[in-house]
Amino acid sequence: MQTQTASSPKRISNKRSQDEKKTKKKKKKKASMAERADRHVLYEQAVQDPKTDVATLAKLYKKIRKKPARSFREDFCGTATLSTEWVKGGSDRTAYGVDLDLPTLEWGREHNIGSLDVLDAQRIELALGNVLTARGPKADLTAALNFSYCCLKERKQLLAYFKNARRNMTKDGLFFLDVLGGTETMGPDENRHDLDGFTYRWKQHCFDPLTHELYCTIAFFFSDGSKLAPAFEYDWRLWTMPELCDVLDEAGFSRTHRLWEKTDKKGNGTGRFYEPKRVENQESWWTYLVAEY
Ligand SMILES: C[S@@+](CC[C@H](N)C(=O)[O-])C[C@H]1O[C@@H](n2cnc3c(N)ncnc32)[C@H](O)[C@@H]1O
Repeated sequence: MQTQTASSPKRISNKRSQDEKKTKKKKKKKASMAERADRHVLYEQAVQDPKTDVATLAKLYKKIRKKPARSFREDFCGTATLSTEWVKGGSDRTAYGVDLDLPTLEWGREHNIGSLDVLDAQRIELALGNVLTARGPKADLTAALNFSYCCLKERKQLLAYFKNARRNMTKDGLFFLDVLGGTETMGPDENRHDLDGFTYRWKQHCFDPLTHELYCTIAFFFSDGSKLAPAFEYDWRLWTMPELCDVLDEAGFSRTHRLWEKTDKKGNGTGRFYEPKRVENQESWWTYLVAEY
C-alpha cells in the first residue's frame, strides 16, 4: 500500500502548474517587430523632415513678403509635425493644425506637442475638422504638404478647399502646396530605402491616364520577416501644375509662384528654390507651388 505523505500532493500540483506555465509560455508567441512598431513613428522617420520643411517655408515666405511669417496653419496636419517645429522657431510664432482623423491628432498631441516645453505647446491649437470647411485664426503661412490635397479628386472639391484655405489667410498670406510629377509618377513603380531598423517602401500600384487617379501605399518591413503592408494607403488624383494654378486663380489667389529646386553639379537637390520660366521634365520630381492671397 502506498503511503502518501502530506507533502506529495502539493509537490504534484506544483509540478503541474509549472508545466502549465511552460506550455502557456510556449503558446504565447512573442510579438513580432511589426506588432510592436508604431506606424506614426516609422512614417515620421521615413517620410518627414520637419526641420528642413519649416526652415524652407519660412525662408520662402520672407523672400516673397519681405518680412517673417508669424502665424502658421497646417492643413491635413496628421500628427502635426510641422506645427510642432514651427512654434519652436520663436515665441511670437503660433500654429493651427486641422485634420479629420481624431486618433492621428491625439497621437500628435501626445507625442509631438507633448514633447515641447509648456510655453511652446500653448501656442499650438489642433482642430478636428474638414479642410474644405474648417475655419480658424487667419494665418500668414498656410501649408498643405505631402500631396494631401490629392485625396480631393473632383475639381469642385479642390476649388472648395482652396477657397476655404484663402478665407483663413491674412492679406499678406501665402499658401504652400507641394506638387508631385514626372514620367515615372504616371505608372506602377516602387522604391525601397533601408532605414534605422526597418525598410520603407513607397509603391505606386496603378495609374489611370484617363482620370489621373493614382493608388499608392507605404509599407514597412522588418528583419524578423514581419511587415506593416500597407501601413498607409493613398487613393489620389495626380493634379498637374497647370490645373492647380487654374484652380488657385479661380479660388481668388492673386498670383502663383511655380518653384523648382536648384541642383548641384551631380544633379542632387540643394534645398534652394527658384522660379524658372521653363524646366525639363524628369522621371520623378516634387516641388513647391506658392499662392499669394
Ligand atoms: C498624407 S497624410 C499627411 C499628413 C501630414 N500633413 C504630412 O505631411 O505627412 C493626409 C492627412 O490628411 C487627413 N485628411 C484627409 N482628408 C482630409 C480633409 N478633408 N480634411 C482634413 N484632413 C483630411 C488625413 O486624416 C491624414 O492625416
